[in-house]
Amino acid sequence: MYLARDDEIDPKTNIIAEYKVKGTETFERMAKETAAESSVGTWTTVDYLDDDIMSSLAARAFALDEKNHMMKVAYPIKLFEKGNIPQFMSLVLGNILGMSVVDSMRVVDVHFPEAYLNEFKGPAFGIHGIHKYLGIPKDDPRAILGTIIKPKLGLNPQQHAEAAYRAWKGGIDYVKDDEPQTDQEFCRFEPRVLETLNKVDKIETETGRKVLYSPNITATLPEMEKRARFVQESGGNMLMIDVLTVGFAATEYIRDLDLGLPIHGHRALHAAMTRHPDQGVMMIVLGKLLRMIGVDSLHTGGLHGKMHDDELSTAIKIYKAMQKEPWGNLKPTLPVASGGLHPGSIPKIVNDVGMSVLINAGGGLHGHPDGSVAGGKAMKQALDAAKAKIPLDVYAKDHPELAKAIELWGF
Ligand code: 3PG
Repeated sequence: MYLARDDEIDPKTNIIAEYKVKGTETFERMAKETAAESSVGTWTTVDYLDDDIMSSLAARAFALDEKNHMMKVAYPIKLFEKGNIPQFMSLVLGNILGMSVVDSMRVVDVHFPEAYLNEFKGPAFGIHGIHKYLGIPKDDPRAILGTIIKPKLGLNPQQHAEAAYRAWKGGIDYVKDDEPQTDQEFCRFEPRVLETLNKVDKIETETGRKVLYSPNITATLPEMEKRARFVQESGGNMLMIDVLTVGFAATEYIRDLDLGLPIHGHRALHAAMTRHPDQGVMMIVLGKLLRMIGVDSLHTGGLHGKMHDDELSTAIKIYKAMQKEPWGNLKPTLPVASGGLHPGSIPKIVNDVGMSVLINAGGGLHGHPDGSVAGGKAMKQALDAAKAKIPLDVYAKDHPELAKAIELWGF
């Protein structure tokens, strides 16, 4: 009961979750209780639980690896409502993480049968839709360069729009609001959107290049819908949501409005769930779920910046999971490197995860000694150098903006 051999598990009819489990009980008991509590069982025997229920709905732990504290649990697909991520989370990431029979538990990865995956819409645009909008060729992709307006908070709508304009002028593709920027008194949402979209028009007219701006619509759900519709009616081309603070259901609701605007997902809050090495859930799991509900671009760790990541080889796996094709019928989500990045980070990031990535620098662009235009230029020059496989210090010899950036921040 609740345990199985590896060859008894069919990945076509089961969702398989990988758990890291530590505790003083026997590993087998912890495995059984995990499978029971997260499917049909509870702490004692209950008469209603008959053989039919057991054989069709019980989760079963397998691949027990006590030395490495790892186990897998197979969940029959029948346990799940189609297309319902909150229900999935209540089972696979639910009560079991708080059971006292274990000292700690971390959900390390999860694998879905195609039949379950394909109940989700996934991103409306994803990597290729965003590339197409920006005119980036499918057969020769390059990293998309972005910025976050800094100072973090405090600029008024005109100042915000001007900072965005200068960054675009430098040559970058994308501007996003910061994750705590919503509709504060010093920078109301609607005037900020209108002012910044005016600058989108201006830069596109001046340069002939397409650029993206994602205003942060994070709020209560009715307010988010109102803000999303406002962006659409104002001619906007992207939305941003703090996808974990508003939650999966709210994010999916906005995606399902099908407003024709890609959704940029900021992952603020993730570290409350992902950072502890033994407890919680790994970012790759949250990333897969956010791709399933339709987030087009998602913060997936800075790799070489100011934020904590798991070791590099593990952090890279999150990017690969977002870029993976095919993955059911779901379009790939554009992974986003952000947090403490600057021009010197760019070659390392594209070397690690390839060109299908969005690289954001806030302080590492607006903090350039010569301002945001020069900061944007330095970012673009660093990408050009990386694409041509020329070391940054060599390329910087006749690119003064890059030279100043790497002198200040290194590479
Ligand atoms: C983000 O949205 O990832 C952060 O605001 C990044 O800001 P920074 O580039 O200044 O660290």
